[in-house]
Amino acid sequence: MDADVAGAVRRVLSAALARRVSAAEALDPLFARDVAARVADFTRDGGKLTRSRFVWWGMRACGGGSSVTAATLRIAAALELIQTCALVHDDVMDAAPVRRGRPSLHADVADQYADRVGTSRGARLGQAAAILAGDLALVWADDVVAGTDLPSATAPRVRDLWSSMRMEMVAGQYLDVQGEATSARSLTRAVRAACLKSALYSVERPLSLGAALAGAAPGTTRALSSVGRSIGLAFQLRDDLLDAFGDPRETGKPSGGDIRSGKPTYLAAVAQARAESAGDRRALAVLRDTLGRADASEAELAGVRAVFEDTGARAAAETKIGRLVDQGLHHLDSVSLAPHAGSRLRALLRAAAGTSPAAAAGPPLDTVAAAPTDPAAVSLPSAADGDGGSR
Ligand code: IPE
Ligand code: MG
Ligand code: MG
Ligand code: MG
Repeated sequence: MDADVAGAVRRVLSAALARRVSAAEALDPLFARDVAARVADFTRDGGKLTRSRFVWWGMRACGGGSSVTAATLRIAAALELIQTCALVHDDVMDAAPVRRGRPSLHADVADQYADRVGTSRGARLGQAAAILAGDLALVWADDVVAGTDLPSATAPRVRDLWSSMRMEMVAGQYLDVQGEATSARSLTRAVRAACLKSALYSVERPLSLGAALAGAAPGTTRALSSVGRSIGLAFQLRDDLLDAFGDPRETGKPSGGDIRSGKPTYLAAVAQARAESAGDRRALAVLRDTLGRADASEAELAGVRAVFEDTGARAAAETKIGRLVDQGLHHLDSVSLAPHAGSRLRALLRAAAGTSPAAAAGPPLDTVAAAPTDPAAVSLPSAADGDGGSR
């Protein structure tokens, strides 16, 4: 299984999806075609299975083996369904037309119906279908978890983590959209939203689930949570950088979407704080006039990118990612992990943050609080690392 984790997860996922699409067809063919099949196709195709890999290698690094293989693969499959729910709903909230290089689910349904019902009704139907598709993915994810045989010693912990994770992601998404609507630009807020909307469900909770499945000792469990918190935040900061500066052919999403939606990212918060403390009125005017303008032109997007560069916000985000990676991996130094799985896990963590080993060398380990063991007690990191000015 270690040799092809992605293949093993895909097999479990395919079987789970096939059963559910058949049930949907028996229920209603139109619903099956428009909604259920889209959820299945989205989940099957194109994802990197990042969360699956974290739960698997977390479990293996903590010494888990064949007795929990089947359960781990099912939890991995359920995490992929959660990801479908998160992304399909996210694209509606962010009005994002493209995902993984293809039309997002709501745009695809809108397009399917535009000729027959007109653009505006088609768009409304697309959004409604995507809300239902995301709900369906969440329901299927929960069903997969509920149907997983877990040893009685680990079951309560796995179920607690699962339940915390779902609410955290919803909370983070709310902070994100509320911050957009209110033009919130504080660093603390940006870090908090990134942690909740991404770090926890993308990295920390999958690793914690892996540790729980393996029945890991408390110290190891804590170390995995802590590294997951740091790398998860780095993962989101990387996502934000890619949104502004990445190549859409590689990211599968249009560039500049966060600028157009005025997303309260770390990048925007640092740029704002630095422009304020330098009294840079030109930069402040660019941020004020373009962030959050859905109709911003390419030239205006370029203007904001230039402000991200010139204020040092882009470099600050890179530095922060490097520190988070160092700090995170440092948590693993004090625990004993299964050797092969431990090094696979480290490589995976670096890859999630988009850093090479060389790029991540050096700086102090001061930013993110160690994660708590109690899944209900999330104490989020402070952003007080001095790289973004006063906010
Ligand atoms: C979304 O954050 C996080 C979740 C889906 C929960 P973003 O809105 O930044 O994600 P992308 O950039 O669209 O993938
Ligand atoms: Mg979003
Ligand atoms: Mg988005
Ligand atoms: Mg993003």
